[in-house]
Amino acid sequence: MKTQTVVFGILGTVMDRASRRRGKWEKRWDKWRPTISLFQQNELSIDRLVLLHNKNEEDFAKDIKTDIASLSPKTKVELTCVTFDAPWDLASVYLTLSSFLQDYPFKRSKENYYFHITTGSHIQQICTFLVTEARLFPGMLLQASPKKDDDDRYPVQTIDLDLSKYDEIASRFKQEHLEGTDYLKAGIQTKNKAFNNMIAQIEKVAIQSKAPLLITGPTGAGKSHLAKRIFQLKNMRGQIDGPFVEVNCATLRGDNAMSALFGHKKGAYTGAASARDGLLKSADGGLLFLDEIGELGLDEQAMLLKAIEEGRFLPLGADSEIKSTFQLIAGTNKDLRKAVHKGTFREDLLARINLWIYELPGLRHRLEDLEPNLDFELNKYEKDYGYHITFNREARKIYLDFANSNEATWAGNFRDLNASVIRMATLCEGGRITAKEVRDEIDTLKYRWNQDDGNNRQIDLERFLPAVEIEGLDYIEQVELRAVIDVCLQSSSAAEAGRRLYNVSRTLKKSSNDSHRLATFLKKHGLSFDHIKNQTNC
Ligand SMILES: Nc1ncnc2c1ncn2[C@@H]1O[C@H](COP(=O)(O)OP(=O)(O)O)[C@@H](O)[C@H]1O
Ligand SMILES: [Mg+2]
Repeated sequence: MKTQTVVFGILGTVMDRASRRRGKWEKRWDKWRPTISLFQQNELSIDRLVLLHNKNEEDFAKDIKTDIASLSPKTKVELTCVTFDAPWDLASVYLTLSSFLQDYPFKRSKENYYFHITTGSHIQQICTFLVTEARLFPGMLLQASPKKDDDDRYPVQTIDLDLSKYDEIASRFKQEHLEGTDYLKAGIQTKNKAFNNMIAQIEKVAIQSKAPLLITGPTGAGKSHLAKRIFQLKNMRGQIDGPFVEVNCATLRGDNAMSALFGHKKGAYTGAASARDGLLKSADGGLLFLDEIGELGLDEQAMLLKAIEEGRFLPLGADSEIKSTFQLIAGTNKDLRKAVHKGTFREDLLARINLWIYELPGLRHRLEDLEPNLDFELNKYEKDYGYHITFNREARKIYLDFANSNEATWAGNFRDLNASVIRMATLCEGGRITAKEVRDEIDTLKYRWNQDDGNNRQIDLERFLPAVEIEGLDYIEQVELRAVIDVCLQSSSAAEAGRRLYNVSRTLKKSSNDSHRLATFLKKHGLSFDHIKNQTNC
């Protein structure tokens, strides 16, 4: 049997009606009625028409069916009632249309499908385009137009979105999307899959959502940098026209914290000589980035929650609330759930800000991105200082070998890389970094990281063990356990942690299984590598 031509269309409540409303139904043949004109053309012979109409348009649909029968008796017209509850609501029309199409028994081997796009509300037309582009409708679009005076037939045009000329539209979409992710990554060709997936999602969320975002990750992982980029992307896409306001909550203390955030009236407290707007008000219409949000006091947290939920808050000493609408991005290198348990962070605030939570990995977990970031930093130096800097080949190899080795902890993550490049670029001669500068720099980095290990990196054992168990440990055991946990946290696998922990003894043995030795050590304390990485109490 010959392939059948099937056209879907939405009954045009105004255009298909033509003069009927004015009681001149008999004059209807003089008018252009798009659905009828499909049977007053020569290009396409239609075997079946599926005409979608609202319940209350049933009689009118029957009249149209009668007229079609007079023009094309062989065409089967199926009147199909589909109720578009809100024909002007994009989401609702799309859902109605797509669920209708999903249930429809298409027979693609026997039938060719067209969707007539001339009738229906603008929203219905847009949705028809979208479902066709998304292949929920397995056919082409069909467009009818009024005829020229001297023609006796009406023209129709088919639009096949599969044709390459429409690829340009699709690739435009893709291009814009790519530009967004590229922008968030500052143009750095990162290779780490998990990171790239995360950035792709952040791009979508940044463009579509006004909800708060929480960015977590160790210091120097790029939280502040990303927050700024999200703002700039939204700004470029015309989503936001207010300012970017940034504050590190660790710098906010006491009365000053309340007033810095929410503002105050003149004389609100001793020393409040003049009124102050506060950061939330300054961010009106823009984006507020609260870095280290875990450092915010409980009172400020309560006020902040109200401000993001209601868009209103009370400045210090004021007797009426003021309004400010802003998007919030919060940054932290703390585990806020732990802070909730300890009572230093409000559970309701956490619930409000953790709808979109993104954890930026440290540099050690993105070693494949080290090289592109190194080049990025060299280019940045050139832009900032006006000197073109290159590595000689040997120097680059020595640097990268060290940077990727277990000796390099990258405790300060990308901030360390940035500082390291600046040092080498400044100290080298003639814009060429040689093996000498690299070896000196490696010493500098090692020295700094060793100091960090001794001074700053105090692992909080309570994150991993119940307090009673810690109390039962000798001081020396606590020190050892802290050091082991620290290495685990900085390693991407138990094998890597084992290699670093047993770096001398492993070379003396014929065969060694460092992961096993590590597992045995941790087991004594009821811990495992995975528990440590997930930072859970066992
Ligand atoms: N996506 C990025 N592109 C370029 N440089 C970055 C990027 N992320 C981080 N950096 C570098 O790392 C440094 C630290 O980033 P920052 O955003 O301040 O980290 P955090 O806020 O997590 O402590 C920045 O000064 C910058 O040099
Ligand atoms: Mg920061």
